Amino acid sequence: GAQAVTPHEIFQASTLNQILQRGTLIVGMEVEYYPFEYADTKGEPMGFDVDLAKLIAQELGVKLEIKDMEWTGLIPALQSGKVDLVISGMTRTLERAKAVTFTEPYFTTGLCVLLSAKRAADVSSVEDLNASGRILAVKTGTTGDLVATKRFPNATINRFKDETACVREVVEGRADAFFYDQISIAKHHSQNKSTTRAILEPFTYEPFAMALRKGDFDFLNWLNTFLDTIKGDGRYDALYKKHLGA
Ligand code: ARG
Repeated sequence: GAQAVTPHEIFQASTLNQILQRGTLIVGMEVEYYPFEYADTKGEPMGFDVDLAKLIAQELGVKLEIKDMEWTGLIPALQSGKVDLVISGMTRTLERAKAVTFTEPYFTTGLCVLLSAKRAADVSSVEDLNASGRILAVKTGTTGDLVATKRFPNATINRFKDETACVREVVEGRADAFFYDQISIAKHHSQNKSTTRAILEPFTYEPFAMALRKGDFDFLNWLNTFLDTIKGDGRYDALYKKHLGA
């Protein structure tokens, strides 16, 4: 007859146990997202999420392997088992939560707007961009893309694989606006003062969370306990200060 699966067998098969047995934690991220994951001058990944991943590996007593991949490849890589975990400034959304399991948020921000000084000189609020003739540049599959598609149906939406391509569209006046998380927009505006303006008041709610495979309850519990622990013992504050200032 059918044998009931024991809690011990469930843990044996779990991602948490696989990581411990393997001795390596494999984390997926797209290393093009300052200050969460970006490459130093030698090409080494660094940033808030990288240090978070290092702390996790350290607490588990395992090595860390970071797999750098395209944004749209992260969730498929998680689902197919190529990575144990995604830490990539990923916003926890209801739609994505159908495909993956999210931890509690570890950072909260919102989408802001980089405007072309020339094309969008007459734009005073984000709603002005939902009009025919307006062109929005977004990074494929990000929340900027999802929100533009859903809430700006009258505008033309041009999708690009890279963040830098979206910025170029605005700087060179081929797009009115680029929607992205606040820190990124603030950085791009400060680097392109004469060609851009920015709306730095967030118009969406973007809680960042780690993503793991559906059904990974032991790992989810471990990661949420980890987040709570580092928030309580000062390590989260140290990370925040190092990468996000004060
Ligand atoms: N927070 C946004 C989202 O979840 C953008 C994140 C981009 N992250 C990255 N590593 N490229 O869609």
